[in-house]
Amino acid sequence: MTIEKGKLWGGRFEGSPDRAFRRFDCSFGFDRRLLPYELAVDRVWADALVDVGVLASEEAARIRAALDEISKCIEADPAWLDRSEAEDLHGFVEAELIERLGALGAKLHVGRSRSDLIVTDLRMFVKDAAGAVGAQVVRLVAALADQAERNFGLPMAGMTHLQHAQPILFSHWLLAHAEAFERDVERLEAAVRRADACPLGAGAFAGSTLPLDRIKIARALGFERITANSIDAVGDRDFALEYLFALSALALHLSRLAEDFILFASAEFGYLRLPDAYSTGSSMMPQKKNPDAWELIRGKTGRVTGALVALLVTLKGLASSYQRDLQEDKEPLFDAHDQMLAATEIAAGAVAATGINEERLRRAAADPALLATDAADYLVARGVPFRQAHEIIGALVKEAERRGQPWNELPLDVMKAFSPVFEPDWQREITVEAALERRGLAGGAGPRPVREALENCRAWLRAAGLREGAR
Ligand code: ARG
Repeated sequence: MTIEKGKLWGGRFEGSPDRAFRRFDCSFGFDRRLLPYELAVDRVWADALVDVGVLASEEAARIRAALDEISKCIEADPAWLDRSEAEDLHGFVEAELIERLGALGAKLHVGRSRSDLIVTDLRMFVKDAAGAVGAQVVRLVAALADQAERNFGLPMAGMTHLQHAQPILFSHWLLAHAEAFERDVERLEAAVRRADACPLGAGAFAGSTLPLDRIKIARALGFERITANSIDAVGDRDFALEYLFALSALALHLSRLAEDFILFASAEFGYLRLPDAYSTGSSMMPQKKNPDAWELIRGKTGRVTGALVALLVTLKGLASSYQRDLQEDKEPLFDAHDQMLAATEIAAGAVAATGINEERLRRAAADPALLATDAADYLVARGVPFRQAHEIIGALVKEAERRGQPWNELPLDVMKAFSPVFEPDWQREITVEAALERRGLAGGAGPRPVREALENCRAWLRAAGLREGAR
């Protein structure tokens, strides 16, 4: 019987597949992206087959040499892959091995199935992918920390419900975003750990019959451990789901960062100056500079979250072990990864290049309305119950509004008519600086805790850098 190149099955078939179905069935168009992992697995597999006596070491050496040659051909001419008619990446490699080695090339695919192969490749991809995005998010956190450092001390009109609320340090706002991205990095690291188990040896689903050293194979491929149950090993995609959730949370945080930057760069706020390098103009309105980088980053959230939902729905209700539906795991995963790898790079660059309009920030932070809570606290410090103090300051603000005057410029006798505990010194106590100083609790918006948060962020960055270096 002759060996047919690139044909992974068909002995029991009389007819060939319908043409449209064949196109529908083929995954090489997207799973070829996993070729570097497939080739790495094959190199280790050749050695494993020597260990169990299926291949002579000289045969394994020839297979490895052929695999190296295939790698080189791909590097030299990536368009080579476009011309292939392979069904999937497994068929592609096998065909190329047979092309080069004849019958020896057909010896490699024993003791394994495409079902344990593909999930091994995908786990290797997720480990690299989540590591790469994590490293990029670390750079984004560093860019936020640098801006926080450079603008330390600058006050800002803190808002809730997008209404002026209390004074904060501008750096406190930046570090709020940094905090969320630190969690994202930790989630990405957890996704790497979840993916870090080698399924090889699970075979099609019931385990290989060869006496393989699964741990040795896993180690050779850089896996920390092996999967347990062989049925679960080929059917489980939790590691992909968890990576997609980490990406979705990241996309969501990026979109909130983007929204703040877009808002604060508008003429109404004017806190931030859009960098040319990350903005675009209008084809009609000559004056325009648009925050397109941020808008696109915000816009990516939909497709990334969509990828997570797509995989969740694909997995729901699948019978245990491998089902072909699982092939649908790859495209959304690749897309979500590519988008977030790009978005985090752009976000880090845009944060670093953004100009800060100190004057606009200071002017907005000088709004006396921001000091109303501190005024109530002033009364409380002099024995007034808080609920009553709240009422008094509210009434003062209303009275000032009626007079068309900032509340803190009302004459002392008017103030005293509202509450006799106001003393001539009150204005000195209720300033932006004093209000910030008073927010000294850990996690607060004042200079002391924000300095501390900045130092913590630097320490976190150093630790993250070390973890990355250790990978
Ligand atoms: N292309 C498939 C996937 O992406 C892997 C092949 C498994 N096919 C099979 N009939 N066992 O999941």
